[in-house]
Amino acid sequence: MQVKNTIFIGKVLLHFDSLPSTNAYAQEIVSKSRPSEGTVVLTDHQTEGRGQIGSIWQSKPGQNLTFSIILYPKFLPVQRQFALSQAISLAIRDFLAQKTTKTVSVKWPNDIYIGTKKVCGILIQNTLSGKKIQSSIIGIGLNINQDQFADSFGNASSLHLETGIQFDLQGSLSGLIRSIESYYFQLKSGQLPKIQASYLQHLYLFQQPATFRKPGAQPFKAKIVDINPLGQLGLESQGKRLFYNIKEIQLIHTDGST
Ligand code: BTN
Repeated sequence: MQVKNTIFIGKVLLHFDSLPSTNAYAQEIVSKSRPSEGTVVLTDHQTEGRGQIGSIWQSKPGQNLTFSIILYPKFLPVQRQFALSQAISLAIRDFLAQKTTKTVSVKWPNDIYIGTKKVCGILIQNTLSGKKIQSSIIGIGLNINQDQFADSFGNASSLHLETGIQFDLQGSLSGLIRSIESYYFQLKSGQLPKIQASYLQHLYLFQQPATFRKPGAQPFKAKIVDINPLGQLGLESQGKRLFYNIKEIQLIHTDGST
């Protein structure tokens, strides 16, 4: 496989038939050497894929994209690291929006949905040094052609299931990476307000009533009204606005009913 028509991301492509986790592999090579910025680690069969908050990521061999990009966003202050996650999410959203007429949105913090189905998960692992981001591993699992998901995966879907079209993995990888590169340049040139505005515009359930729950507590109705620069979710409930970290809040229903 090859990544076509990019400036630096994917110029070095490390492609493996099978790998436990592309994020783990990328982390290992970053800790041992300094791979060039934009190096992509790709595998056809990821056997121990990692997800957010200790979850796992499963993907049928040869049907989807599972890869990691190595970046060195030293220009980004540590307290603005969420902007990188926003830029990557928007890049993937834009790419998918060109493939379907359905609504493509970003579910906070960085899942990509087509309609109400999750088609892509992102796991970003940053290494910090003082006030700067030393390195960033951008792990992306994008379901492309997989046509069956176990019930235990709830609302998982793929681009194929949502469009009826069979996609070419090589072409999809190149298109996706071009979109990511373009957003990375936007981020590098300091266009954070534009990225934030676009993120809110495409945020799943933004300004809509829904039901949430804090761990171990009763569900409550609220609506998403903001995301702050730290990437915390701003919920408004009973006239009060509170911000939450990812581990502190869970979306239960989309319709405001309990
Ligand atoms: C999530 O939604 O929980 C994030 C899933 C991220 C999965 C990708 S697949 C490629 C990369 N390598 C991993 O081990 N995880 C990420």
